[in-house]
Amino acid sequence: MKKILSLLLAMTMVMGLAACGGQETPEETNTTPAESPAESPAESPEEGGSTGDYGDFAGSLIEEGKLIMVTNASFPPYEMTDDDNNVIGIDPEIAQAIADKLGLELVIDNIDFDAALLAVQEGRADVMLAGMSYSEERDLVMDFSDTYATGYQVIIVREGDTSIAGGNDDYMLVDAEGNVIEDVQIGVQRGTTGELYCQDAYGVDHVTSLDNGSVAVQALINGQVDCVVIDIGPAQEYVAANPGLEIVEGAYTIEDYCVGVDEGNTALLEAVNKALNEMIEDGTVQEIMDQYIGG
Ligand code: ARG
Repeated sequence: MKKILSLLLAMTMVMGLAACGGQETPEETNTTPAESPAESPAESPEEGGSTGDYGDFAGSLIEEGKLIMVTNASFPPYEMTDDDNNVIGIDPEIAQAIADKLGLELVIDNIDFDAALLAVQEGRADVMLAGMSYSEERDLVMDFSDTYATGYQVIIVREGDTSIAGGNDDYMLVDAEGNVIEDVQIGVQRGTTGELYCQDAYGVDHVTSLDNGSVAVQALINGQVDCVVIDIGPAQEYVAANPGLEIVEGAYTIEDYCVGVDEGNTALLEAVNKALNEMIEDGTVQEIMDQYIGG
């Protein structure tokens, strides 16, 4: 058992290298006796999986026995709603698997993305899973788990529009010759890193912030904006669903998707990180991704 613990510890440290926030405390030792009647009946040392011990996070939850997840389900394939308005996708499945490991009931709250960021900061949600990227700005007001996916911001244009060829190091849009495009109106989802990068580069007047990705794409179709900057996952889904659009080759930014928790909620963060890293190691996260992202 000691071997397994140190293996887990080593794994945590390796994963920690890819951490979003760098707030890990890998030196922490696990003092719970291995034979204690752990909550998890799935304890199976041969599989090298969960030890059933995720630390003392119970007092850090908003509601006893529940993991309240906040998200914005207009971000396929990470989160969207089915015909019965259930929130489905990669993030709910990852959250469900984390909740199962922690012995909690998952409750999903589907609200606007910017409101979701606030909800976790103000202690109205335990975790935020929303294809949410790590950013230094956000790190000042919330804590981030280790990363579970890479997100790329890409540029969507109307099909055949070759005027925008990509972004430069200053996040300015450029044409095929690399010349900066000054006169442009960019559509983004409100509260996202795409909005931040574009506003930093262009100022607010050149950026139209819309309620969510699908509204932003609609604005592009209607000619209200010249392009949309959004994460590649939803970009591919929107382009597939709406003829007449295409994605500019190359990434505008590269980001890490993480689980967000309230700033300073270390007990919950460590429990989430442990569960998440087990799922990365044993391939569960990849399986969930493959289920939603073909190829
Ligand atoms: N990755 C971007 C960000 O963190 C966009 C996320 C939007 N997610 C959503 N569920 N609508 O800002």
